[in-house]
Amino acid sequence: MKTVVITGAGSGLGSELAYAFSELDYKVCLLGRTRYKLEEVSQNLKGKSSIFEVDITDPLSVAEVFKKIDESHDSIDCLVNNAGVGIFKSLAEMDNKEVDLLIDTNVKGAIYCTKEVLPDMQRRNKGDILNIISNSGKAAKADEIIYSTSKFGMRGFSEALTDLTKDTDIRVLAAYMGNMNTSLWREDKPAERKSYASPKDMTKIIMDHFQDRENVVSSDIVIENQ
Ligand SMILES: NC(=O)c1ccc[n+]([C@@H]2O[C@H](COP(=O)([O-])OP(=O)(O)OC[C@H]3O[C@@H](n4cnc5c(N)ncnc54)[C@H](OP(=O)(O)O)[C@@H]3O)[C@@H](O)[C@H]2O)c1
Repeated sequence: MKTVVITGAGSGLGSELAYAFSELDYKVCLLGRTRYKLEEVSQNLKGKSSIFEVDITDPLSVAEVFKKIDESHDSIDCLVNNAGVGIFKSLAEMDNKEVDLLIDTNVKGAIYCTKEVLPDMQRRNKGDILNIISNSGKAAKADEIIYSTSKFGMRGFSEALTDLTKDTDIRVLAAYMGNMNTSLWREDKPAERKSYASPKDMTKIIMDHFQDRENVVSSDIVIENQ
């Protein structure tokens, strides 16, 4: 049985990805800061799962959690860097704590988690890293300037990882998508949110690209809103 680690698995896209991996018979390690949300997802999964409360902005906690996963699982076959925060403001409105939170979560958190899994994947010459980015990492917008900056950072990291692993059997898949109706938006855009894509639909498209096919490989998935 394969093992997948999903960050931000307690809601939105992360929880839908957890259900999809569970359907594929993966053991699912659910990571996030809020236990009750992870428990709710875990209870609805069809197969085996474990819960790990962690704040991915803290490298020491990340290292501790991956040590625990390592002790209780054979190996990590797939890492999904999904956890993220959204603060959608102009530069003038954004305070420095919010700047730090966006960069620390959306970029540095994914780097910390990847550093924990990559050496073993390299040793085994095997593994998948799925990076959930955003179309804001393809085209930057003034009214979400630091969110875009964080997603461009994640895109750079993902592209460099693809280069790093190009002569191996480790696959790096980057998913760029438009707006989804999730808690990322908090109180923002309540009216527009209703027309945003569902994380379930996004998951179907991502998982279709994720699955192995003979002699073809996907590295980038770009999903636009209609
Ligand atoms: N919604 C959109 O329109 C949209 C569009 C494109 C891309 N994305 C990306 O999709 C990903 C998933 O977002 P979503 O839309 O599904 O929103 P969401 O429902 O708010 O999910 C984000 C998850 O990340 C977790 N998280 C946040 N900070 C964390 C931290 N420091 N440590 C650990 N976990 C943390 C949150 O759980 P806790 O708060 O419990 O930790 C939450 O479960 C994000 O990377 C986002 O940028 C979203």
